[in-house]
Amino acid sequence: MKILRIVGIILAGLCLSGLVQAEYTIKFSHVVSPHTPKGQAAQFFADTVNERLAGRVKVEVFPNSQLYNDNKVMEAMRLSKGKTGLIAAPSLSKFVKFSRQLQIFDLPFLFDGIKDVHKLVDSPLAQSITAPLERKGLKALGFWDNGMKVFSIKGPQPLRNAPADFKGKKFRIQSSNIHAAMIKTLGGTPQKLPFKEVYTALGQGVVDGQENAWSNIYSKKFFEAQDWISVSNHSYLGYLLVVSADFWRKLPADIRSELEVITKETMLKARQYAAEADRADREKIAQAGQAKIVELTAEERASWRRATQKVEAEFARQIGKPLLNQIHQLLGH
Ligand code: LMR
Repeated sequence: MKILRIVGIILAGLCLSGLVQAEYTIKFSHVVSPHTPKGQAAQFFADTVNERLAGRVKVEVFPNSQLYNDNKVMEAMRLSKGKTGLIAAPSLSKFVKFSRQLQIFDLPFLFDGIKDVHKLVDSPLAQSITAPLERKGLKALGFWDNGMKVFSIKGPQPLRNAPADFKGKKFRIQSSNIHAAMIKTLGGTPQKLPFKEVYTALGQGVVDGQENAWSNIYSKKFFEAQDWISVSNHSYLGYLLVVSADFWRKLPADIRSELEVITKETMLKARQYAAEADRADREKIAQAGQAKIVELTAEERASWRRATQKVEAEFARQIGKPLLNQIHQLLGH
C-alpha cells in the first residue's frame, strides 16, 4: 500500500512537471476565489485525483471565472469531446435551464439551516432530482455546501422589514427565476448578473444590494461596497458537481469508480470548509468595520417569510407538487 502511494506521488510529480502525460485531462472551471469553500474543495479534488490516479488522470483547476462563467461552462461541458473533460460545480441556482426540480434549492425559507439541507441531499430524493440531468448531457457527482445566504445593501438603512425596506431597491441575483420572484415579492427589483460583474455593479450603483453566502461577500470584497448586512439566512447557496455525461461514460470503469470515491470524500471536505468559512469570513467582515452586521428579530424575519410565502405556490407546478410534498415531509415542516 505504502509503495503504491509513493509511486503515486512520484507519478503525480512527473505529470505536474509535464514529463509524463496523463491519459485523461479534466479541467475544473469555477468562478470563486481559491480560498472559498468551493475553491478549496476543487483543489482538494484535484490534488487527490492527481495523486491517486497519477499518469491516468490529471485535474487542472481554473478559479475566478478564468476559463468560463457558470452558464457558459455547462454549455461547453455538454459539447466537450475526446480525452479532455470539463468539470464544474455551479451553484444550484444556475441549473434553471437544465432542471426545473433543482429549483427547490432556491425557495426562500424552505430550509431552516444547513442541517435541513443535508437531510435532503443525503436522501434518495436527491438522486432522483439529479438523475434526469443525464438526458441533458450532464452527470451529477455530488452536492457541495457553501452556506445560508444573507442580504447586503448600500444606503442609510439596513434591510429589516419586508416589503417596506426593499421598496425602490435593486438587487443583483443569480440566473434563477425563483430569486427574481422572491425579490419582487419582497418589494425590490431583481437584476440577473454573472458573479464576476457583481463587485463593479455594487461599486457603480448599478444595483443597491445582493444576496450571498459569507465567503463570497468576504472573498470578493462585496462588504466594502455595502453599508449593511442583514443576517436573513433566507435560502441556501450550494453547488452541484457536474461533468460531461459523455466524457464520464467513456472513462474506463476503474477510473470512474475511483473518481466516485474521491467525489464522496470531497463532498465531506466541502462541508468542513464551508462551516469554517461561514464562521471565519463573517468574523473578518465584522472586524473590517465597513458593512455593519444586523441580526433580525423574530418578528422581522417573520415579515420576510410572510412576504415570500407565495413564491413556493407560484413555482409548485414547475417543480412538481409531489416532490415538494415529499420534501416537506422529509424536513418535517
Ligand atoms: C453567485 O453567482 O453569486 C454564486 O453562485 C457564485 C458561487 O459560485 O458561489
